[in-house]
Amino acid sequence: MSASPDPSSPDPSGRPARAAALELLAAALSRRAGLEAALAAPALQALAPRDRAFARALVMASLRHLGPIDAALQPRLAKPPPEPVVNLLRLGAAQLFVLKTPPHAAVDATVGLAPKPFRGLTNAVLRALLRAPPDLADPDRLAPAWLYARWRAAYGEAAARAVAALIAEPPATDLTPREDPPSCGLSAELEAEVLPGGTLRTTRSGDVAAWPGFAQGAWWVQDASAAVPARLLAVRPGETVLDLCAAPGGKTLQLAAAGAVVTALDRSGPRLARLAENLARTGLAAEVVEADAAAWADPRTFDAVLLDAPCSATGTFRRHPDVLWAARPSDVASLSAVQARLLEAAARRVAPGGRLVYCVCSLEPEEGEAQAAGFLARAPGFALDPVSAGQGGAPAASLRPDGTLRILPCHRPGGTDGFYIARFRRTPG
Ligand SMILES: C[S@@+](CC[C@H](N)C(=O)[O-])C[C@H]1O[C@@H](n2cnc3c(N)ncnc32)[C@H](O)[C@@H]1O
Repeated sequence: MSASPDPSSPDPSGRPARAAALELLAAALSRRAGLEAALAAPALQALAPRDRAFARALVMASLRHLGPIDAALQPRLAKPPPEPVVNLLRLGAAQLFVLKTPPHAAVDATVGLAPKPFRGLTNAVLRALLRAPPDLADPDRLAPAWLYARWRAAYGEAAARAVAALIAEPPATDLTPREDPPSCGLSAELEAEVLPGGTLRTTRSGDVAAWPGFAQGAWWVQDASAAVPARLLAVRPGETVLDLCAAPGGKTLQLAAAGAVVTALDRSGPRLARLAENLARTGLAAEVVEADAAAWADPRTFDAVLLDAPCSATGTFRRHPDVLWAARPSDVASLSAVQARLLEAAARRVAPGGRLVYCVCSLEPEEGEAQAAGFLARAPGFALDPVSAGQGGAPAASLRPDGTLRILPCHRPGGTDGFYIARFRRTPG
């Protein structure tokens, strides 16, 4: 990745930003969390801030419309060129039809980045797309076919279409206020709508660290759905709570702000460093433990345990559209096995009469409904503790007959992250 000579000012040719976008797109499509790692890489950080912002915007635009873009490219690539050329064409199409870059600039810049033998093809394909622009909002093409088929099977045709339609939509930003309920002043300053449960939803954009209240730790960024699981534990001040798989700590902050004595455990040191920063900024306290949740050698049990298990994260596609394209069908099976193991480890930490909340930001039933059912079958000391309508700020449509929650991204106007949430209680004594 080549950096601008002067990292403080953008390169007028746009070439470094587009070259960076090409590397980001390749990373995003090659492996899970590849985009996150590439965005943090030193070469990208060395770009001028405006070039970096453009590279990121271009990749996000491409990923949010990848299905329709690929459907338009496919018939024009009788003999598929090497993957970097395909990625370049994807970025070219996103510039033309999503970012609305003037055609001559988008085409010239894209052709300029193509390897010599593919310049003619790149030029011809982009000009053909200009003559017959793709329908970028077609919900039947927005998700990868295998995931769309799963969602149709699990939730029905209409819900799957409504979910898929949100892939193309950049989301608003949701914030959890430290004070519950938030002061009217804070929501006004942030130009935010107050959602059920107290989440603040703002259409502000740009650097969140410069927004009112950030430096004072008055709020943290957390999707409205992600704020529901901790609320369902309904902790009372002084109760002990174990947050397993806690980093970067959105739910730890909620539990600590509610007055619980929190132990936050995660196996990732770098992610725990972010959790510690979040605690310091908000002035909240928690015991921080770096350990594997399944092998943690500590004899304590807790009044309440929260398990936000690692998952395919397909419910977070609004902010992380790469999850859709990097996920593989085999991930769902392998992550399901991890979740079952972690649920059993979490259950061992629940004191008699205590409660356990299990959640995943996945839309895949194997990671949600099937985990809860499997756990209940294996753990006779636990029963479902049904959630009631609207509890925790959950959308009404997400409540299932058994009292667990299946939040679909289409369950809130403007969208929300997809989540599955189940609450259990351990029998006393
Ligand atoms: C969904 S994220 C947690 C998000 C967090 N609860 C929040 O609200 O900010 C899942 C976390 O699980 C952690 N993790 C994965 N496997 C683990 C294990 N065996 N033991 C402990 N943590 C684990 C990952 O490092 C990751 O931070």
